Parts: sequence; C-alpha cells; structure tokens
Amino acid sequence: MVNTLSRRQLIKGASALAAGGVMDLTLVNLAFGEEGGAGDFTFAYISDSHLQHIEGAKFVRNWDRGLMRAVAEANLLDPKPDFVMFGGDLAQLGKREELDHGMEILSGLRYDNVRFVLGEHDYYLDLGEYWSEITKLPHWYSFDHKGVHFVVLNSILVDEDWINKWPSGAFRMNVMAGLDDPRGSPFMVGEKQRQWLAADLARIPKSTPVVVFSHSPIQKIFKNWNFWTDDAEQVQALLAPFDRSTVIYGHVHQIQYNQIGNISFNSVMGTSWPWPYPEAYAQAGSHLPVITVPMNRADPFHERDATGWQFVDVNTGNVALNYSLPDNSPRTVAYDPKLKRPRDLQLAEREIPPQKHY
Ligand SMILES: [Fe+2]
Ligand SMILES: [Fe+2]
Repeated sequence: MVNTLSRRQLIKGASALAAGGVMDLTLVNLAFGEEGGAGDFTFAYISDSHLQHIEGAKFVRNWDRGLMRAVAEANLLDPKPDFVMFGGDLAQLGKREELDHGMEILSGLRYDNVRFVLGEHDYYLDLGEYWSEITKLPHWYSFDHKGVHFVVLNSILVDEDWINKWPSGAFRMNVMAGLDDPRGSPFMVGEKQRQWLAADLARIPKSTPVVVFSHSPIQKIFKNWNFWTDDAEQVQALLAPFDRSTVIYGHVHQIQYNQIGNISFNSVMGTSWPWPYPEAYAQAGSHLPVITVPMNRADPFHERDATGWQFVDVNTGNVALNYSLPDNSPRTVAYDPKLKRPRDLQLAEREIPPQKHY
C-alpha cells in the first residue's frame, strides 16, 4: 500500500494546506487482509497538542494552530478514515480551560467517532476526572472495528504514594509536566489494568489483529524523560500470544519504531513541538530501539521539525513510514528485506547531515 497510496490521492483539495507546509496528522492504514479487501480501513491519529492556557481567553498560539491544522487535514482526507484517535496530552497542565479549548477545536472534526487516549498532561491535575467528564470515556477501554480488536490503555499511572505526596494537584501536575524533573515518577500500566487487559484479551481469538493505543511507549526507551513504561514487559507478555499486534503511542514527540516478536511499535508525532533524540540533547545514553532509524533532522529545536504528516503502513507486519516534514526532505523509512531492518530510503545525496546539539 505504501507505494500506491500517495498523499495526493489521500488528500484531495488540500493543495492550499499542503502549500502551507505543515500537516500534523498521522494516517494509519490497517490492511491485515488481502490488499483492497473488505477488511481494509484507515484511521487518523492526532496527538500531543499541549494546548496551553495563558490567561483569560489567551492560549499559546502555535500549539492551537498545530491542532487546528490537524483537524482541517483530517476533514480533507479522501477516502475518509473510519475514525479518529487523539493520542493524549490534549492539554499542557490539565486545566479545564485547556481541555475545553481542545474539545472545542476537535469539535470541528467531521467525524462521529473520535476517541481519546489519556496523557499525563491531561491527568495529573485532577487524576483524569475532568477528562472523563468531557470525553465521556473511561481511562482505559477496548472496542472492535472490522475484525480488529483495539485496546486503549492508560499507561501513565504511577504509585499511590507518589500521587499523594504533593501539596496540591497543580503542584503535582507541574512536577510531572517537566520533561526531566527528577521529582517525577516512572509511568506504568499497573496491576489492576493489566488484569483487566488479560481478561479483555482472553475472549479474543489469537488470530485477531490487536492494536493497542497507549500514551507512553509500552517499551523502555529513555527513563530520564519517561519515554518508558515500568511494567512494559508484563504488558508485552499479554500481547505476545497474538499473531499480530501493534502498539501506537504519542508522548515522545519523535519518530520511533521497534519490533519485539510479533509486536510492532510505532510512535506518532505531536502537533505541538518535537523532542530531539536523547543523545542529541544531553549526551545521555540513548536507549532508542535498535531498529529505530533516527530521523535526519536539520534542527531538532526547529519548532516544527518532526511535527509533520506521517503515513504508517502496518500491512506487512513491518512498519513503513512516509514523512512530509517542514524544512526537511520528504522521506520514507521502510523495512529493507536485504538488510532485514528498516532504513531511510531517502537518496544519500539529498540527506541533510544529522547534527548533534549539546
Ligand atoms: Fe506530549
Ligand atoms: Fe505525554
């Protein structure tokens, strides 16, 4: 599919937007059956808008614009995806103003079925209470669509002791909102939710494709920044018996992917800002999955670098990603059967040499 389904085919009438350059949207194609078969469908994925309230009716304009563009783009997709997922961190500090503002922007989506993943920036002010009120969703849930079983996890939980140690919810939210605040806590799915997941999956035949949406990666990448889920292995063990499972996550604001047994892991970019790869930031050890091809980035601190358009093809079981990034060349990162790993297919002479920023 990745070779035949171009951005132009998908987005008719989007030329004005395309000329604007930034399209903050991920489209995921699920074609687990025969190509073109009845079971094929797509869904769109928007993530990490981090809408930030300033005062009164004022919000950080750039983050607003990222989400608004994603909504416009999703509405222009043709054929229309079956549904839209929002991957978490709708708000920056979990405030009602921010969540309300986000829901207002997302109400522009011409889709009946928009679903949400809970991000830590939505959660730690009031432990997800208001988020549930406005999304009308529990913190974790599952649904079925055209023969695929979808699971939405809340992967940003922490121990009760940590929850209760702060003078206020706002204080707690501020600590968790800091990317590398040492007072933060590693995330987990937790035993209660894992038990729910085990029961949920027990009723699903092992041949059914399973797609998990989480906020933090259900793998261990970089603990200092909480690109990490403490009980990742236990969750992976529940997915391992299935023929095909895919974990799609936001949170990292980076391009990452990995394959562990039958589980493929794909990150989606944020509509707000990109995070540089850990090694490029602080000379800290990077634990990016070995098969992640670090995106060739002209400037990791460019506010729009890595917030572009992404097409994820999970048809083959190996991930193929097409990127359309501002101030960077369009590129495809795809599995190379000769190398037996993904590689950046961009022609070498067009590559922008990666820079290290210390
Ligand atoms: Fe985020
Ligand atoms: Fe996050």
